[in-house]
Amino acid sequence: MEVKTSLLDNMIGVGDMVLLEPLSEDSFLENLKNRFDHNEIYTYIGSVVISMNPYRSLPIYTPDKVEEYRNRNFYELSPHIYALADEAYRSLRDQDKDQCILITGESGAGKTEASKLVMSYVAAVCGKGQEVNKVKEQLLQSNPVLEAFGNAKTVRNDNSSRFGKYMDIEFDFKGDPLGGVISNYLLEKSRVVKQPRGERNFHIFYQLLSGASDDTLKKLKLHRDFSKYNYLSLDSAAVNGLDDAANFRTVRNAMQIVGFMEDEMQSVLELVAAVLKLGNIEFKPESRCNGTDESRIKDKNDLKEMCELLGIEQSVLERAFSYRTVEAKLEKVSTTLNVAQAYYARDALAKNLYSRLFSWLVTRINESIKAQTKTRHKVMGVLDIYGFEIFEDNSFEQFIINYCNEKLQQIFIELTLREEQEEYVREGIEWTNIEYFNNAVICDLIENNQNGILAMLDEECLRPGTVTDETFLDKLNTVCAEHQHFESRLSKNSKFLTDHSLPHSCFRIQHYAGKVLYRAEGFVDKNNDLLYRDLSQAMYKATHSLIKQLFPEGNPAKVNLKRPPTAGFQFRASVSTLMKNLQTKNPNYIRCIKPNDKKASHIFTESLVCHQARYLGLMENVRVRRAGYAFRQAYEPCLERYKMLCKRTWPHWRGPARQGVEVLMDDLQVPTDEFSYGRSKIFIRNPRTLFFLEDRRKQCLQDLAALIQKIYRGWKCRTHFLLLKKSQIVVSAWYRRYAQQKKYKKIKSATTVVQSYARGWQARKLLRELKYQKRCKEAVTTIAAYWHGTQARMELRRLKQEARNKHAVTVIWAYWQGTKARRELRRLKEEARRKHAVAVIWAYWQGLQVRREYRKFFRAHAGKKIYDFTIQRIMQKYFLGLKSDMPSMSPIDKKWPARPYRFLDGAHRELQRIFHLWRCKKYRSQFTEEMKAVYEEKLEASEIFKDKKALYPSSVNQPFKGDYLEIGKNPKYQKLNSAVDEKVLLADVVNKINRANGKGAARIFLLTKKSVVLADQKTGQVKASVPLPDLASVSVSTQTDGFFALKLKAGSASAIKGDFLLSSEHLIEIITKLHRTGATAADQEQLNIDISDEFLVQFKQDKVCVKFIQGAPKNGNSASCRRKNNRLLEVMVPSTA
Ligand SMILES: Nc1ncnc2c1ncn2[C@@H]1O[C@H](COP(=O)(O)OP(=O)(O)O)[C@@H](O)[C@H]1O
Ligand SMILES: [Mg+2]
Repeated sequence: MEVKTSLLDNMIGVGDMVLLEPLSEDSFLENLKNRFDHNEIYTYIGSVVISMNPYRSLPIYTPDKVEEYRNRNFYELSPHIYALADEAYRSLRDQDKDQCILITGESGAGKTEASKLVMSYVAAVCGKGQEVNKVKEQLLQSNPVLEAFGNAKTVRNDNSSRFGKYMDIEFDFKGDPLGGVISNYLLEKSRVVKQPRGERNFHIFYQLLSGASDDTLKKLKLHRDFSKYNYLSLDSAAVNGLDDAANFRTVRNAMQIVGFMEDEMQSVLELVAAVLKLGNIEFKPESRCNGTDESRIKDKNDLKEMCELLGIEQSVLERAFSYRTVEAKLEKVSTTLNVAQAYYARDALAKNLYSRLFSWLVTRINESIKAQTKTRHKVMGVLDIYGFEIFEDNSFEQFIINYCNEKLQQIFIELTLREEQEEYVREGIEWTNIEYFNNAVICDLIENNQNGILAMLDEECLRPGTVTDETFLDKLNTVCAEHQHFESRLSKNSKFLTDHSLPHSCFRIQHYAGKVLYRAEGFVDKNNDLLYRDLSQAMYKATHSLIKQLFPEGNPAKVNLKRPPTAGFQFRASVSTLMKNLQTKNPNYIRCIKPNDKKASHIFTESLVCHQARYLGLMENVRVRRAGYAFRQAYEPCLERYKMLCKRTWPHWRGPARQGVEVLMDDLQVPTDEFSYGRSKIFIRNPRTLFFLEDRRKQCLQDLAALIQKIYRGWKCRTHFLLLKKSQIVVSAWYRRYAQQKKYKKIKSATTVVQSYARGWQARKLLRELKYQKRCKEAVTTIAAYWHGTQARMELRRLKQEARNKHAVTVIWAYWQGTKARRELRRLKEEARRKHAVAVIWAYWQGLQVRREYRKFFRAHAGKKIYDFTIQRIMQKYFLGLKSDMPSMSPIDKKWPARPYRFLDGAHRELQRIFHLWRCKKYRSQFTEEMKAVYEEKLEASEIFKDKKALYPSSVNQPFKGDYLEIGKNPKYQKLNSAVDEKVLLADVVNKINRANGKGAARIFLLTKKSVVLADQKTGQVKASVPLPDLASVSVSTQTDGFFALKLKAGSASAIKGDFLLSSEHLIEIITKLHRTGATAADQEQLNIDISDEFLVQFKQDKVCVKFIQGAPKNGNSASCRRKNNRLLEVMVPSTA
């Protein structure tokens, strides 16, 4: 059974201040302290959650706790921020009401932590799934990124938000998160260039320098040393419990999850580095001749590195730090900056650079986390704005921050009251107004359009003429003097003329949360937020894409002469939009309180808490809540809780819950002015009544418990008794059964014994009888057996005797038969021998007789005749066979039938020879004269070269054509033909070998009956003509080459030019024809042909040796000639192998 607990169970102090009795400031604080000391940091005022900062981690944010508070009623469990988050989430999801969570409190009170707790609770209880989880993760991870860039250590808080943040989380109809939108409010950018004592610059600077890798730092041109940077405060650079290096990794990781690209992250870090560099740029004065001071940059190294980081031309920036150009409508005036102005310009640039980077980050995160679908969203807004701040020295920023808190207090007052009122109206309850401090008047002092402080500041800033902080203060003094929340020494209000706590340069405002003294110095400048146009133009010229985006007004094409809206104006506008937005949503309040000023756990500084409780109007809150009715509850849960107080409603009430409650109240006789019946709720005016009810309930619970106890005990005893009774019956039943069983078994065994004796006696008697009968039977059998035995033995003896006699007779008979048989066998053998001898003698006698008879018929020469006849027959068969098996008539047919007998060997071969000669003759007789001549030439070639020159075999099947050039027909050679009067026997192209290099030159070679002619191949012009008689000999090698030398007779007319060394493809034919022409001409001597691998050739005067060498086989099958020296030409002939 589920145990229903309540806010009122196990309570330390009072969980809901509304129920505090008696209600006084002391009891209020006492209750807070009591709870705080017992680690109960959350307390309700109705539906408002008061949260005390514990300054240490408590085990109340575990997943188990989340489960505990999930889907539970607000007052069901002890107060917790989760209960508020759950309530808000459920009414968003189930009742479709947009929600906003308003978290207020001063700096360090735990607002940011509270906002994160609310977000993480909602993330834990809303839907799950891959896509949803990604959205949740991105929403949650936007926090560390913004905190790194927007939070800093202050004296109040080590992680103080220096910007206002409002985040809308968007949900779909199921309550799954779709995305979000973050709005940021005015970053405290003055911190970039200067931090109050004991405070730090924004976290990211320290994180970057401690956590970035050496490599990254080198790329950013930074050193891991805070002391190198003017903008970093050094006295509090390290903060206890803050690990900057680890946080840097967290931030990078978070940026990645949110969806920043690697290059975007790099760009952001480059800008952060640039701000640090900017701080290190220093100026020195330089006097000019006209008496004015000009500023110069001291050391340009930092400027140079910064320009490199941002891709800005150094000279452009340098100029922007030295001059200021003012553009009026028509003219442009340039003035030089003095050192102070230069520093001002530098800091303005740094502040602008950083704050614009911050705004860009918010825009970029929004891009990542914005909802993808366009369906209608439900929205939960979480507002975490900088808390109310009072420093020693308060400036424009504090003024703005406190104004914002003023507005939030306003909305709190309005909505709490309105809602309360509306509820009474809704429920039909009479309502009388309650007094409380309304801070609308302070808001009016600040934001009034005519004479509000912000309006005057704007007016002062826009006014022509000299404007200073003093003139601004003067203006305030005149306009606001009468205002009851404005204090100043110089105002007309004489009250403050002697107030020495109020310096002349300051003014004081009585905020809802206390008086704050503001120093007027810097208000005008900060409101103007002036950045010289030269600087924004210099930034716009950068090649760094991000920086260019951040300074769009630097675009020279879009020069805007209108002043930009002031910071105050912008802030007022955005706060007003925010307020309008919040008013459309259902508010849920978390009011954070700081227990002490030391950031220490367990310390409860009463005065401090008292102050906060006062200005937060908590007491009023309780009073308002109680002025009407301290407690209200819907009828159903109320009846459920208190129904035991009345007999008629206990244990069950069947009817409407309201009637049940009415009956209950009647019965309890609660005075009627102590409560009212609303439409759906009962309203109890005084906590006393509630406590009366609770006490009665407690008492009743005790009575009920006693009753339950009584009934239970009675029931328990009776059940025990019944059990005992039942058990006793069972036991006795079992025992009786057992005893009877035992008795029965005894009788049974006795019976068995008696029975067995009787049976034994009977059996033995029978046995004896049977045994006697058996013995008689056995005796008869034995006697008969003996008798039969005697008879049998006698018969046996008789039979044996008979058998012996028979056997003797058989043996004697067998011996007799054997003797008879052997005698007969001997006789038969003798007879057979005799018969064989007679047959042999008869055969011999017959043979002799035949030979004598036929001897007279045989002659002496019959054998020879038979032999001759046989031979003749064989020959006849041989020739007839040959005739049918003759080879063809072709002389080259080598076929001849095989011989049939060896003795015919000689005749067979002779016949083959004769046949061959005969068929050759037949073949020759077919020749014409020309063919004959051709064959004669071939024959002659064979005689000359066969087996002497290796080239010969390849020439055998080449026909000797003679005229290869067709000299008679070809018109090209007409002239040459006519120059030779004889008939041309051979015309061919040969190579004439040049002695100088061994190379050949093509020549036409003509052979006629009388001479050899060499002519140019192209022109046909005769080069040499040698009459055949002048030729002495021809030399060729034994190898496959076509080289030949024509040697001339010494002394002849042709010999003057020397011999010819030629080569031709038709060498065999040329030489044969030459030889033959020499032989046919009767008047010529036979031409000598030398075949050798080395011969001499007469070239003009010199004799040159031509030597043929066989070389390796080559692709081109031609021989090549080379000149070795003056007296040696070498011809390489490829080997034929
Ligand atoms: N619920 C909490 N549990 C533990 N520590 C807390 C809690 N709330 C605040 N703190 C501590 O107080 C510090 C300041 O809280 P923070 O939320 O930053 O204050 P604020 O935003 O109001 O200026 C935190 O850094 C944290 O150490
Ligand atoms: Mg904060």
